[in-house]
Amino acid sequence: MTTSDLSFHDQTAIVTGAGSGIGFEIVRQLVKAGANVVLNDIDPAKVEAAVSKLESFEGKAVGLPGDASDLAFIEEMVSLAVAQFAQLNICIANAGITTYSAFLNYTPERFNRLISLNLAGSFFLTQAAAKVMIDQGKGGRILLMSSVTGIQAPAYLVPYGMTKAALQMLARGLISELAQYGITVNAIAPGAVATERTLTEDPNYDRLWAGVIPSGKVVLPEDIARAALFLVSPHSGQINGQTLVVDGGWTAVSVSPSNLQFPEE
Ligand SMILES: NC(=O)c1ccc[n+]([C@@H]2O[C@H](COP(=O)([O-])OP(=O)(O)OC[C@H]3O[C@@H](n4cnc5c(N)ncnc54)[C@H](O)[C@@H]3O)[C@@H](O)[C@H]2O)c1
Repeated sequence: MTTSDLSFHDQTAIVTGAGSGIGFEIVRQLVKAGANVVLNDIDPAKVEAAVSKLESFEGKAVGLPGDASDLAFIEEMVSLAVAQFAQLNICIANAGITTYSAFLNYTPERFNRLISLNLAGSFFLTQAAAKVMIDQGKGGRILLMSSVTGIQAPAYLVPYGMTKAALQMLARGLISELAQYGITVNAIAPGAVATERTLTEDPNYDRLWAGVIPSGKVVLPEDIARAALFLVSPHSGQINGQTLVVDGGWTAVSVSPSNLQFPEE
């Protein structure tokens, strides 16, 4: 099965933080497969540019600039999806910020900003979407954007990794309250993904990471989007509360001493 086999006709989705990077690619693939999508980003210029790139596709993208950590805005976003397309079937809480800092220097301001988007924003978007999906009575798909930093612990990303680990627990924890309504909540844990942001932070990002990823390739937004489309499709109904790692095998292998000796039979 390829993602081109997946059809999202008559499906409405919300994707946050989708003006660029992973979120934009998820929207692009969804709209190409026929979905109607509310495309959110905090940057209005990015929303406008992103929507204009999607005009030739079958599904429709409606741009909605706003802060995905603002609880009133989250309600507005969900209401807009229903008002515009009469239903909400898929909700992807993708928006998240990555803040690198030494633990001993981490300020309360930075901590609160991180928690309010990565954690509270994802939590309350999930809640608002689930309420609509329950009222509709047709089930639904919710996807959270975690990270491998929620499983393994790289330096200087402790609070970020905490938020991403919490999202994995959110997916698992909601099974007992939402599965009965046909709603699944899963997460994706991307590894090192070459996006506009990561390539701006380090122009050698893709080459650097390709060197330590067992597949020999940096992960691309397309890789994450293909996994996302499967997890929000009708084919994934029996997958619930799971976190799918998409990292080219990076975090599945252990580091061994380079001069390790072993007896060969
Ligand atoms: N890129 C990676 O290597 C990587 C790895 C693991 C996890 N992730 C996660 O995947 C998601 C997307 O990552 P990315 O690298 O594509 O993101 P990114 O940093 O490129 O941001 C994507 C978009 O989110 C928007 N945004 C920022 N704050 C927002 C807010 N408050 N409300 C709405 N939109 C906002 C930005 O304007 C941007 O267009 C994030 O949750 C990130 O933590 C990324």
